Amino acid sequence: MLDGLRRLEYRGYDSAGLAVFQPEQGLEVIKTKGRVDALARQVEGRGGLAGDIGLGHTRWATHGAPSQQNSHPHVSENGRIAVVHNGIIENYAEIRGFLQSTGVRFASETDSEVVAQLLEYYYNGSILEAVTKVLHRIQGAYALGILCADCPDRLIAARKDSPLVLGFGQGCRLLASDVTALIRYTRDVCYLDDGEIAELTADHVWVYDAYLRPVEKERRRVDWDISAAEKGGYEHFMLKEIMEQPKAVRDTLSPRIQDGRVVLDEVSFPKNFLAEMDRIAVIACGSSYHVGMAAKYILEKLLRKPVEVALASEFRYCDPIVTPRTLALVISQSGETIDTLAAMREAKRLGAKVLSIVNVVGSTIARESHQVLYTWAGPEIAVATTKAYSTQLAMIYLIGLCFGEVLGTLPPGEYAGLLAALQRLPDQLEEVLSCRERIQYLASVCFNHPSVFFIGRHLDYAVGLEGSLKLKEISYLHSEAYAAGELKHGTISLIEPGTLVVALATCRPLFEKTMSNVVEVKSRGADVLGLTTAPLEAAMGQTATYTLTVPETHPLLLPSLDVVPMQLFAYYVALMHGCDIDKPRNLAKSVTVE
Ligand code: F6R
Repeated sequence: MLDGLRRLEYRGYDSAGLAVFQPEQGLEVIKTKGRVDALARQVEGRGGLAGDIGLGHTRWATHGAPSQQNSHPHVSENGRIAVVHNGIIENYAEIRGFLQSTGVRFASETDSEVVAQLLEYYYNGSILEAVTKVLHRIQGAYALGILCADCPDRLIAARKDSPLVLGFGQGCRLLASDVTALIRYTRDVCYLDDGEIAELTADHVWVYDAYLRPVEKERRRVDWDISAAEKGGYEHFMLKEIMEQPKAVRDTLSPRIQDGRVVLDEVSFPKNFLAEMDRIAVIACGSSYHVGMAAKYILEKLLRKPVEVALASEFRYCDPIVTPRTLALVISQSGETIDTLAAMREAKRLGAKVLSIVNVVGSTIARESHQVLYTWAGPEIAVATTKAYSTQLAMIYLIGLCFGEVLGTLPPGEYAGLLAALQRLPDQLEEVLSCRERIQYLASVCFNHPSVFFIGRHLDYAVGLEGSLKLKEISYLHSEAYAAGELKHGTISLIEPGTLVVALATCRPLFEKTMSNVVEVKSRGADVLGLTTAPLEAAMGQTATYTLTVPETHPLLLPSLDVVPMQLFAYYVALMHGCDIDKPRNLAKSVTVE
């Protein structure tokens, strides 16, 4: 269990715990605030924990501060039922009040503890029946693991809106919220769906629906290699994943380019759907949303259809205009982000066709969308996304070319030119990565700036959004991204001597316009780090304090190259600040709470 928890450390957490059934002592629970290593030391301090069955958990605090009491597993008052929970029990206050009125005393401030206490309340000799009663009573999102001392040969699991995967190992059955925890023990897995309950013994798994009717589940084989989830000599997963981008992009593109054409076998829409499509609604969060921002410029140019980009957390509550002629393009690395999932369901309910771009095979968004295009980035462990972003962007180009051909919207010669440039992209990414020492040097001269602004126009603006997010999430520096022309409408008042402005000006037709904005900030004392293409380096160098270049490519492909120096810059700045790069504070890899 400790090994499994270590493999999930990348997801972000603040406390950890274990419950093991020991034949002599019953349920033994060890919990601690802090890292899995601290938990392991406590286990060692007690001379180890012997047992055949148990539950482990790492908690990312929502209700109640990170503390030993608030960490999982939570145990019912009589000490006989242990529970781990991911998600949020929305009606926990009402249930807590009810249980307290019956005399139950709570040990933590969490929403999760109500599940353990409610199980004890309903338990009448059958843990499965108690679980079904609890599931009918609780509202919210959950992935639950339950261990009852009265039936110490089995675990019970249940899910709604929070991922759970079951593993079929040699003489053992396992459950986890992410396949990464299981891969060392088995590649045979099955994903629980919403509303399902599972019962696991060492050699058997039964899956039921909410009324305990048996459900047949399909097993899947995980085909990625365990080394993909190891650092392979790099100091951090983030750097490893940045360096893996040429391969990840190549793996995403090559199977879909056949005989000089883009072939998206996975996608088939009813006849005329694309021609009659009224709009594309891109739905995503965070960096995936930033891919959506770039997609707006790219797809509108190639398809001549309106593309609206929505933050998933806003989309679901804004009464969105969606029709059966709308294509909802859902972008998610994990395929489990709760806001994106909920927004996708809303779009589906309103009649949209849902096409998702997902990295994790078998994830909930992949399973629930009408069509899915997998990015073949491999497992992404660092919390800050890099290779998933790049492969999502690569997928946008494939969609643009494929749909553009069907719609006949690409200007003559454009298809072949763009496709040829796309095929050169992995080599050009290698070229950009080979300049990382220069970026490391620039990070060493810039890392002390307290405030950083990223500016750019058009696609450069979309990349600036991502560059700014990368920097703030891993280095904790204050940074913001602005459309370069927007700066003068207010934000320029923040520019003063010592402010660092990262100016992205790779978009040739808008170069002079962006340079005017660079002059504006420079004349107010800002230090400017300018990113442009090699032929424009000298022009940039006349104004910028420092310059960085990327090779020339098709203008629509520039974001794929531009983002790499932004990722490396953030990485090296964070390194110089001594930050916990792979596990930045307060962040989780897959955000399965609202
Ligand atoms: C930033 C980052 C996040 C994710 C966001 C959406 O580096 O990784 O902003 O992009 O949480 O996650 P997915 O793509 O898994 O839906």
